[in-house]
Amino acid sequence: MCGIFGYVGSSEKDNPVTICIEGLKNLEYRGYDSAGIAGLINGKILAHKTVGRIQALEDCVSKENLKLQVAIAHTRWATHGKPTKINAHPHFDSEKKIALVHNGIIENFKKIKDRLVKEGVNFESDTDTEVIVHLLSHYYESDMLEALQRTLEDLEGSLAIAIVHKDYPNQIFAAARENPLAIGFHKGTCEAYLSSDPNALRNAELDILYLHNNEIAVIKPDEIDIFNIEGKKQVKETEKLELEEGSATKDGYEHFMLKEIFQQPATIQKAMENRISDAFGTAHFEDLTFSTHELQSVNRILILACGTSLHAGYVAASLLENIARIPTEVEIASEFRYANPIISENTLVIAISQSGETADTIAAVREVKAKGAKIIGVCNVKHSTLTREADSTLFLKAGPEISVCSTKAFTSQLTLLSLFTLFMARLRHLSKEDGQDFVKELRKLPMLVSDILEQSSRIEELGKKYSGFEHFFFLGRRYMYPTSLEAALKLKEISYVNATGYPAGELKHGPIALINENLATIAMCGNKQTFQKLLSNIEEVKARNGPILCFANEEHTQLEEIADDVFYLPEVMDTLACIPYSIAAQLFSYYIAKERGTDIDKPRNLAKSVTVE
Ligand code: G6P
Repeated sequence: MCGIFGYVGSSEKDNPVTICIEGLKNLEYRGYDSAGIAGLINGKILAHKTVGRIQALEDCVSKENLKLQVAIAHTRWATHGKPTKINAHPHFDSEKKIALVHNGIIENFKKIKDRLVKEGVNFESDTDTEVIVHLLSHYYESDMLEALQRTLEDLEGSLAIAIVHKDYPNQIFAAARENPLAIGFHKGTCEAYLSSDPNALRNAELDILYLHNNEIAVIKPDEIDIFNIEGKKQVKETEKLELEEGSATKDGYEHFMLKEIFQQPATIQKAMENRISDAFGTAHFEDLTFSTHELQSVNRILILACGTSLHAGYVAASLLENIARIPTEVEIASEFRYANPIISENTLVIAISQSGETADTIAAVREVKAKGAKIIGVCNVKHSTLTREADSTLFLKAGPEISVCSTKAFTSQLTLLSLFTLFMARLRHLSKEDGQDFVKELRKLPMLVSDILEQSSRIEELGKKYSGFEHFFFLGRRYMYPTSLEAALKLKEISYVNATGYPAGELKHGPIALINENLATIAMCGNKQTFQKLLSNIEEVKARNGPILCFANEEHTQLEEIADDVFYLPEVMDTLACIPYSIAAQLFSYYIAKERGTDIDKPRNLAKSVTVE
């Protein structure tokens, strides 16, 4: 349940419907299984909902020539209830006086629903959201603010909501708890917008404010009033948007994913730009607000993330321990948030999130913040929730990542975190010379990645050859283990095949039972330290008739005697090998998905950023 957009203006020429549809398109990364819009015109509520992409809603409203004076809209990622038209937002009270859209999860919805059903309320959908609108109607006598306060008091869970009410022709009501909601307004032009993500407003002229902790907003074209849950008026700070550069077009590529894979020599370069000191063999970050003393005192690092960002976290933890010698743990944000963690005084938390909006990561960050931890966010999106929660944010500068499965953001995260490791190591024991050697290797990366991209047609052949398999193991050791996790995730996400990343040495402790001619093993051989050991594991697979493809260093030609196929990559140091090997694996997944005919940029059931638990 994921992206909210709303608009109220005073000019006749602005059409809230078109504005909201455009806004929803910018929020589609938050979910795309159904969409809807509702609003008021001539004292009536009108609405449309469609299953599928925003495009379907756009076609529908233009066919119906929908006109509204004020509108709220929603793009959904289903949590409670299938992605059907009935479950799509907006939802309505029984008398169709109120329309409401929601992002979040109402945890006590069943209890409230049972209570309301007993009172005779008819529910139409299977969603948790519908209880909110019926509750509002239940509490509404003549004052919406009061009804909203009472409704919020009854609800447990996370929410961002937007509401229009028949009795309030030119206004939107909104409220937020845990889930983000930004209001953008322009006093001069008398118009106000509401959005789950301020970047979706794409307007640097607006004054932006954010709703927090059960705050309620009454939004009129020329006036925004914010109240707390007790009904007390709040004074809010505002900010202006810094618009992101980067085009949202495919630039001739067949998919955004392919474009973003091919952008990586440039994005890796960008992540390093103005952050390296060759003379001192170290890195520096203009956006890091901690003092040298604070960073020198750090004796433990905790990394929090989800999905692909989590895999970047696993690599970073090995880097930080091996190179900077700082004990580092990685925690899956969704698990960590309930763990009552021990946060000592000198623990530094690094939260990694491409979007800066992942609900689990944000919740974990809030948990450690409450315990007094200092937080660095590693993020690609300016003005995102993570950037507001973290003490300091290091930006990837990779430009907008449109494809749902993450590619360029992952390698930018790795590049940035390699630089951060170097910086922390140089603040400690690492010599200038060792630092300079590491910098030299880092600087080679864009060229090395270009070499791999030039061989994309060979990877395409391999993708075609392996596209018929339904089961894959990706095996690796040391830095190639998280690389395998990420490679398997890519394939699962866009090809819908069963792919598992596994530490090669563990294969013999159970999973080897699965090896046969129908399961393809992809061995990620980019770690020199453990190459001989991995070779033995590959032999074990071969002995059981498993087909094998190796991604390997060009000096390891002996693999040709064992493996069915080998794809050679240029020589790279173990600590940085995850970057080129992941890019080869991204291409491999891409070509398999293409061969299988899946929806590569918007795979089924996924969202670019999951904004619910
Ligand atoms: C979703 C996306 C993944 C992404 C994960 C974390 O599940 O589909 O591609 O890795 O969220 O996203 P974040 O924005 O926090 O890095």
